[in-house]
Amino acid sequence: MPTQPNNSHLPFGDHKNAPWYGKDIISVKQFSREDLEYIFAVAHEMHVMVDHVGTFDLLKGKILASLFYEPSTRTSSSFTAAMERLGGSVIPINEVKYSSVSKGESLLDTVRTLECYADVIVIRHPEVGSAAQAAKAARKPVINAGDGIGEHPTQALLDAFTIKEELGHLDGLTVTLLGDLKHGRTVHSLARLLSLYKVKLNYVAPEILRMPAELIDELKAKGVEQTEYTTLDQALPQTDVLYVTRVQKERFTDEAVYESVKGAYVIDPKVMKAARERMIVMHPLPRVGEISPEFDDDPRAAYFRQMEYGLYVRMALLAMVLGKA
Ligand code: NCD
Repeated sequence: MPTQPNNSHLPFGDHKNAPWYGKDIISVKQFSREDLEYIFAVAHEMHVMVDHVGTFDLLKGKILASLFYEPSTRTSSSFTAAMERLGGSVIPINEVKYSSVSKGESLLDTVRTLECYADVIVIRHPEVGSAAQAAKAARKPVINAGDGIGEHPTQALLDAFTIKEELGHLDGLTVTLLGDLKHGRTVHSLARLLSLYKVKLNYVAPEILRMPAELIDELKAKGVEQTEYTTLDQALPQTDVLYVTRVQKERFTDEAVYESVKGAYVIDPKVMKAARERMIVMHPLPRVGEISPEFDDDPRAAYFRQMEYGLYVRMALLAMVLGKA
């Protein structure tokens, strides 16, 4: 076993009076700029520790219940990896069809059950507001891993951390969000979170998948400069961060409508000739054709690195709500 480095300078240890101890993470609206700076600093230290020792015992003996009512690869596995790298363990309920949910148990009863066994609950559910309801019923911290088309706050935090690590800062950037801006919970959370910074936001979407008007109004009231487009060509040359999203097939009631918009934009080396040399392309993944694999070797393709940053952010969040950071 490698010896643990002297980590007395790190922000780890017992912090029961820390502001995030015992708190739920439901919406990005909960975070201030100072909170983000703190999360980024802890996530950065988590990266250092993982590089040095791989796994360490900050959350030894703690248990995470991971409850997913919708499919997930990255979010569920990165929360599991985060908990295990911190020495904790996980109750995985990824296939709710094998749990009592399939017998008709309500979300709230399931949550009340899991909190008898776990110290923190991560939940993904198709209904907007479900994580907030679960948090209300539970005494233990609840972390929203996506509530339908509502929010995905931990994704937005890792997205912002990715931008910070890759480009050094967030103020002054032009961020272009592309794809299904109507149903994409990641873009809803990210746009809100970025409104804490001096950013310019471009929205590029087919007419029927535009960013919800309420969200545009909400950000307008905060003084965020926002421009809507239906094509990428005008926005791309000024873009520092191009955030590409999948058209969310599962949110459509009419498959023909999905088919009509699914291939609206494809990012490939040819399209990217019009973009800056120093900029990044992000995607929460999974991708289903919006970014050609031919672009993957371009240094601007940050979407695989983005997944790794997610591990460090989720380690930071678990340590914070469990009073260890
Ligand atoms: C996203 C999600 O589930 O909202 N994926 C993720 O968490 N990385 C994006 C998507 O499914 O398109």
